[in-house]
Amino acid sequence: MRFFGFANGILIAALAVASAQAQAAGPDDQTERGRYLTEMMGCNDCHTPGYFLGKPDMAHRLSGSEVAFEIPGMGAFAGPNLTPDKATGLGAWSDAEIDTVMRTGVRPDGRTLAPSMPWRSFASMSEEDMAAIIAYLRSLPATERKVPGPFGPGETSNTFVMRLVPPGAVVAGAP
Ligand code: HEC
Repeated sequence: MRFFGFANGILIAALAVASAQAQAAGPDDQTERGRYLTEMMGCNDCHTPGYFLGKPDMAHRLSGSEVAFEIPGMGAFAGPNLTPDKATGLGAWSDAEIDTVMRTGVRPDGRTLAPSMPWRSFASMSEEDMAAIIAYLRSLPATERKVPGPFGPGETSNTFVMRLVPPGAVVAGAP
């Protein structure tokens, strides 16, 4: 009996070491956690091409959506390219700038993002999770892709727009 208790103790100690190793954040583990978080937090819905059309282009994941959200009185806004492309993605943004826009909605140029980007939900994210998401975004292949818009109120859009329509409206048919 005593022997088994001792053996169990060793087993538990060994498992504890193994689980501590699994949690140790090497660079790859941090990036992997970032991937997991972006999937669970829905970033692909609004930032991956094809997602809202039922055909997500995961080879170009997070490179920007062709579907803009219309906010009455504000305009229509598509989820931008989050890959490290310098001209059309986040390549020229610092980690602090990404952190700020994710928590406060304020872009480096001072514009506050439309409420379709759920930054209020992300404001209290832990430093570790934010760092993991940023590391993951930095690890994506840089894709050159400028999303359409943003479109101001009354402007004609050249892309898909998600709009709330009242009951009784005719639902659009197949293209
Ligand atoms: C429900 C849709 C939605 C979800 C979910 C979403 N976003 Fe967004 N995001 C947007 C839209 C729309 C914009 C652009 C709004 C604007 O231009 O005013 C945006 C803007 C951004 C920006 C600013 C980029 C720029 O060029 O201005 C970053 C960074 C960003 N999102 C990261 C993320 C990350 C990371 C996640 C997941 C943790 C996420 N978003 C989830 C819709 C979404």
